[in-house]
Amino acid sequence: MVRSLNWGLLALLALSHSIPVLAASSSSPILAPEVGPDCAQGFKHDGKITGTNVTIAGVPTYYSKPAKSTAGPKKVILFFADIYSPFYINNQLLQDYFASEGFHVLGIDYFFGDPIQAHDGEPGFNQTAWINKSRAQADESLPKWTEAVKKQYGADAKFTAVGYCFGGPYVLEISATDNVVAGAFAHPSGVTEDHFNKLTKPLLLSTAELDAAFPAASRNRALEILATNKAKYHAQLFSGVGHGFATRADLSDENAVWAKDQSAKTVVEWFKRFTK
Ligand SMILES: *[C@@H]1O[C@H](CO)[C@@H](O)[C@H](O)[C@H]1NC(C)=O
Ligand SMILES: *[C@@H]1O[C@H](CO)[C@@H](O)[C@H](O)[C@H]1NC(C)=O
Ligand SMILES: *[C@@H]1O[C@H](CO)[C@@H](O)[C@H](O)[C@H]1NC(C)=O
Repeated sequence: MVRSLNWGLLALLALSHSIPVLAASSSSPILAPEVGPDCAQGFKHDGKITGTNVTIAGVPTYYSKPAKSTAGPKKVILFFADIYSPFYINNQLLQDYFASEGFHVLGIDYFFGDPIQAHDGEPGFNQTAWINKSRAQADESLPKWTEAVKKQYGADAKFTAVGYCFGGPYVLEISATDNVVAGAFAHPSGVTEDHFNKLTKPLLLSTAELDAAFPAASRNRALEILATNKAKYHAQLFSGVGHGFATRADLSDENAVWAKDQSAKTVVEWFKRFTK
């Protein structure tokens, strides 16, 4: 079953939309602006979840474990959610899907129980302040959370990271370190050229034709940087879908469902390739 969501919020965001520049960003050209109205558009999904709630380094975390243990090293996906948080049903179902493919999936709740939908219809809600607060929480919690996860799974495990919208920049940042073997994002928000220039790990870019936040010019520029730097990457582009396509698809739209599913499958194939 599908229902549309947050149209009240959307109207509010559309009215108040400005494009705040990431506090932490340098003077590097912006390729995707900070979270905006597109990030709160989409459809809520429905289903039975299989993961559980855990706490890692004091941070609430959704954990979905593989149905059966696979041969070889443990494979771990760090899941960096969109503004709905890893505890949103759409994101839980996506994480459960990754787990069903043999991965331990850990979704950090850098919103600490205060996702965007908690403010649906709230009079005078200040989105800029909320994003700023959420970025500050993420910046503070991610390093210690990542360290704790790495310690928990040990040196033999293979770590990867996938991020959507708000979570996109964190994938790029962690993919510039040895904390993961590969990264992937779909419809990122808040990324600069520096994010691509600093990459040292393979990157999957799952992108949408109609993504106003990461439009053709930005996509092309990102790919140009990756090619110039001889990075290892793969880019996919889906027609007829926009920002949010990988997490909040309209399930009554065949094209949208195909793009969502194909994006998730490609993330799995991409990560299997580097975690053998
Ligand atoms: C897990 O955490 C989420 C988000 O705080 C909450 O909505 C949900 O009820 C929790 N589930 C359980 C089983 O405690
Ligand atoms: C919203 O929050 C931002 C950042 O804290 C602040 O600069 C701005 O003045 C606030 N806007 C309103 C309408 O209160
Ligand atoms: C953004 O958040 C930080 C940390 O919470 C705070 O110190 C700063 O004043 C905030 N800036 C704005 C513009 O709200």
